[in-house]
Amino acid sequence: MSDRLPELLKAFDGSLPLSRARTIPSAWYFDPEIYALECEKVFGNTWQYVGRAELVRAPGTYLTVELAGQPILVVRDEQGTLRAFHNACRHRAAQVINEPCGHATKLRCRYHGWTYDLAGKLRGTPEFAGVEDFDHAEHGLPPMNVETWGPFVFVHQGTPTKKLAEYLAPFPRMTEGLGVGDLRYFDRREYVLECNWKVFVDNYQDGGYHVNTVHPGLAGALDYSQYRTELHEHNTVQISPIKQSDDPAVAKTRAGTHAYYWWIFPNLMINLYQGVMDTNWVMPLGTDRCRVIFDFYFTDIEGEEAKQFNDQSIAVAHQVQLEDWGVCEEVQRGLRCRSYDTGRFSVKREAGGYYFHQLLAQTLRE
Ligand code: FES
Ligand SMILES: [Fe+2]
Repeated sequence: MSDRLPELLKAFDGSLPLSRARTIPSAWYFDPEIYALECEKVFGNTWQYVGRAELVRAPGTYLTVELAGQPILVVRDEQGTLRAFHNACRHRAAQVINEPCGHATKLRCRYHGWTYDLAGKLRGTPEFAGVEDFDHAEHGLPPMNVETWGPFVFVHQGTPTKKLAEYLAPFPRMTEGLGVGDLRYFDRREYVLECNWKVFVDNYQDGGYHVNTVHPGLAGALDYSQYRTELHEHNTVQISPIKQSDDPAVAKTRAGTHAYYWWIFPNLMINLYQGVMDTNWVMPLGTDRCRVIFDFYFTDIEGEEAKQFNDQSIAVAHQVQLEDWGVCEEVQRGLRCRSYDTGRFSVKREAGGYYFHQLLAQTLRE
């Protein structure tokens, strides 16, 4: 650690009231030491969303993901227990599984053919006779904490202080009546943005501040005067009453009484409308780049009429994403300007943005 890192960490004051607060310093958006610390403490030591529970429902099914530089493997064993490991073979650290998802009866590393059972026990080591002081039992895949809530799988690479449901609270209780569990996965869109992952979260967390200016289409569907943000322990929710939009595609696909925009610290966002949910999952790919994955869920996914509605809904979300994409990349370039360091928050709108910075700073300093 350089002397610079403690200085940088100290430069944000999260104890101020919102009316006096400043954002995290701009260097936090491109400094490699801050990035390394985030990978360790934020992504490596909190509950992290890794994918859809339906992919690992049946025995033998698995999913893999790369999360802030750490390859992760989640698998349902024959007994029905969900397990998670780092996706790195104990021989030379090749990825044990190379597919994003699938089904297996054992985990076989394609490099030299070592095999593990679905519980991570090392079972086969070809041409390894004569190796001394080598205990198979000590060369299994070390277990990682894994839990599901509703349609989501989360892992924790460290030692969680809370069960997942407790970490997510009050999201499970507050969405009980909205039928999240009945929605069905329909499709996915992926975007690679040339900005730090936090720029995307900041943009999400500005309490609708940019909706009228950046999203004219969406703005017509939200009653902006009633838009509000609630702060909870590890998450926030922005709630807006819905009004009838003039744009027919928006009006049709953004129905119901309210829109709910949940953000789960640090990088999962869940947008809920009547019969429509999409998750925005942002993953860092370095200091100045991130991947954003949108997964779309709907009440109905069968038949032509449902497909038409769902495609229209995805098109609305895609348009919003294109608009956000532009500002996010612009912000990243601006953050590198020598004359910009910190910014202030709108007291009326940006409580969620400051709260993100407070949670982040707290996690980095732990
Ligand atoms: S790296 Fe997996 S068997 Fe060698
Ligand atoms: Fe936006």
